[in-house]
Parts: sequence; structure tokens; C-alpha cells
Amino acid sequence: MEKILVEKSPALKGKVRVSGAKNAALPILAACLLGTEDIYLEEVPNLKDVTIMCDVLESLGCKVERLGEGKLIINSASLNSYKTPFELMSKMRASFLVMGPLLARLGNTETSLPGGCSIGSRPIDYHLKGFRALGAEIEEDFGNIHASADKLVGSRIYLDFPSVGATENIMTAAVLAEGETIIDNAAMEPEIVDLSNFLRKLGANVSGAGTSTIRIKGVEKLKGARHSIIPDRIEAGTFMVAAAITGGDILVENVITNHMKPIMAKLVETGCQVIEEGENVRVIAAENPKAIDIKTLPYPGFPTDMQAQFMAYMTQCKGTNVAIETVFENRFMHVEELQKMGADIKIDGRSAIITGGKPLSGAKVKASDLRAGAALILAGLVSSGKTIISDIYHIDRGYEHIEDKFRGLGANITRIEVDED
Ligand code: UD1
Repeated sequence: MEKILVEKSPALKGKVRVSGAKNAALPILAACLLGTEDIYLEEVPNLKDVTIMCDVLESLGCKVERLGEGKLIINSASLNSYKTPFELMSKMRASFLVMGPLLARLGNTETSLPGGCSIGSRPIDYHLKGFRALGAEIEEDFGNIHASADKLVGSRIYLDFPSVGATENIMTAAVLAEGETIIDNAAMEPEIVDLSNFLRKLGANVSGAGTSTIRIKGVEKLKGARHSIIPDRIEAGTFMVAAAITGGDILVENVITNHMKPIMAKLVETGCQVIEEGENVRVIAAENPKAIDIKTLPYPGFPTDMQAQFMAYMTQCKGTNVAIETVFENRFMHVEELQKMGADIKIDGRSAIITGGKPLSGAKVKASDLRAGAALILAGLVSSGKTIISDIYHIDRGYEHIEDKFRGLGANITRIEVDED
């Protein structure tokens, strides 16, 4: 079984280039189902989740040509199925993002309930509410969901929470619908804007992405396009925290700094220097990082996908730190693992109180989800002894060449094969 071994490392220094964003690539790949002409994608990260989404597309009859170096050509002219196989669905929750495009293109979509990171119950009621508003009928049967419509008709949909996935699924369902769809209280994440930009290149009529009201006027047909995926703000944030936690100095390249505001602000609050240099950000660690509070919120608030990595850092920020998780109800599974490494963390409902400034020591720990895995690597870099992380398939779902990138900055990190016996 593969594990990641992290040993105490010097201050990380140097440059690292951020890959394309997983959470932008996945909905864009799903949206490739909408067209019949060649779609050429660039900066697609080489990740497990991306492979699963490509497998989903192929299982539905699409052609996916991998050109290497993050380049893909997708053609969905031969789309011939609306049923997403359970084996693929159960591997990744985001496979659910094919529902909107399938409903738009074929008037039918059938799937089982999605798998993926275990960070809360993660229902899909908003997605289904959106499909119903567009005129789809939904049948649910033992975890199987079938949505169908003779014709989708635009509608006004209010989301009770600005769900990223629901916004994406409703946008893609509405692209070929008759008339206008308006999504109120839509998610405003940069990945939504990237999806909208991509859909517009295909010929869709989408406006307002990046604000809380998105308008989609249905068109009859889409064309081929070429699109480059935006940089991954969470990967960028992870390396920025790596500089901060190890007392290092890292230039993180290929960053849209506008997407990084809460992360940059919180690092500055701890005393780090954060210098914007065009498409790069340099983080110079604070000598004695100060305690901070974070509260996760929908964009432009502090991202829930950076909560675990910041918590690892907060164990080194002297004083009382507080992390409040408001987006997912069960996203503190990394706390137990950090405690095994000596972290002083108490949980009170949706808040975690981290008494920072105490030394950590290496332990055998488990990556309970993708970002929790990244947090354990960060903690391992400043722990005495060895940290051995298991269940690293979670990490591979979202970080491209993670050991190589960390090693390039001077980290003591290797992937090891461990015989469980
Ligand atoms: C996406 C991201 C994930 C990120 C999350 C929040 C992808 C592939 N994943 O996940 O990395 O952590 O946004 O930024 O882009 N909810 C409902 N009903 C629904 C849908 C959501 O109650 O129908 C709730 C969820 O349980 C959760 C909250 O809304 O508490 C936010 O979820 P959502 O924004 O939908 O996250 P995902 O799209 O699953």
C-alpha cells in the first residue's frame, strides 16, 4: 500500500508552479457533453479526479484524446448513454456534474448518489430543485436518481445556499433550454466564472457569473472551442501555507491573486510578508507567527478547502486560534490526526480552538479527505521524527505531483510502498 513519508524539513525555499484548478476542470469536462464539435482544453491537471471524469465521459460514448501536458481534445458527438456507471459515480462525488449537461443534451440522466470526500452529508436537493424548476421530472429510488424532460424551459431559481455544484449543474442544464433561466443566490466562486467563460466560448448565452445572479438564455446549438483552465487557488494556498509553517520563502507561480484575498489576508495577519508579483505571489514567513481566527464562508469568504491546511499552520501560531467551519457540518476529521501529532485542538460544535506554538511530533496518520491530507503533509514538515500518512489516494485526487513539488522546495517527503503485514 502506498503511503507518504514526511520528515522534519528545513525552511522551504524556491519556486513552485501551480497547476490548473481541479474544481474548474471537473465541471468544464462535464460541460463538454453539451456540444458535438471538438473541444480543446489546456492546463487540465493530471489528477485522479480528472481521470475519473474522463472515464465517465468515455463510458457515456464520448471521445477523449489525451495529448499530454494537460492538453485534451473531447468530442461528444457520439454520446450514446445517459446512465453514469455506479463504479465511477461512487469514486467521485463530482461525477454528479454530468447530470445537468446530460439532461440538456438528451433529456434524460440517470445516476446513483455520488461518493467522494466524507466531509458531511452533502445532499443534492438544490441540484434537483433546479432541474425540477426547469421542467424535469425526478424519480428517486434506493439511491438511484433519474431525471427526465421532454423539453427544458427556463425558470427563476433561488438557491437556499450558494452551492457550487448546484449552480454549475443548473447552469449547464439551462444552456440549451427554451427561454431564460435566472439563478438567484448563485455561488460566486472563480470556478463558476471559468465555467461561464467556457460555456460562452461554446456559444452559450450566460451572464452574471461571479455575482449572485446568473442569467442563462437558452441557445439551440453549441460549437467547438479552445479553453485553458484557471490556476488552482487551493493548491496555491497550500504552498503559501507551506512557506509560512516552515519559516520559508516561496514564490508561488501561476496564481490569480484576486482569487487569493482571504488567504493572503490571513497570512499577513500572522505576520507573513505576502508580495504580489504579477501572476506570482511570494510568501516570506513570519519569524514568530501570531494567532489568528478563520471562518469558512462561500466565496469571496475564506475557502473551506483551505481550513485544514490553515489549522496545521495555526498549531504553530502562538496563542489561541479559532477556526469556524460554516460550509460543511463535518469537516474536522483532520483534528484527530493532528492531535496524534501533539496538536492542542478542542472542538466545540462548528468551532475548533487551537492553542498554537507547541511542538509537533511525527505519527502514523490517515488522510480522511483531500485537504486533510494536505494539512498532514504541512504538519509533518515541522514535526520531529517521521510522519507516515495513509489513505493518500485522497491526496492524489486533488494535488498534481505533490511530492515532486514539495521536494523541489527542499521538503523531506517521499512516497513509500508499505507492506501492511
Ligand atoms: C464544491 C467543491 C469543494 C468545496 C465546496 C465548497 C468541487 C468539485 N468541489 O463542492 O471542493 O469544498 O464546493 O466550496 O467543485 N448543499 C445542500 N444541498 C445541495 C448542495 C449542497 O445542502 O443540493 C450543502 C452542502 O451539504 C454543503 C454546502 O451546501 O454544506 C456547500 O456545498 P457545495 O457548495 O454544493 O459544495 P460542492 O459543490 O459539493
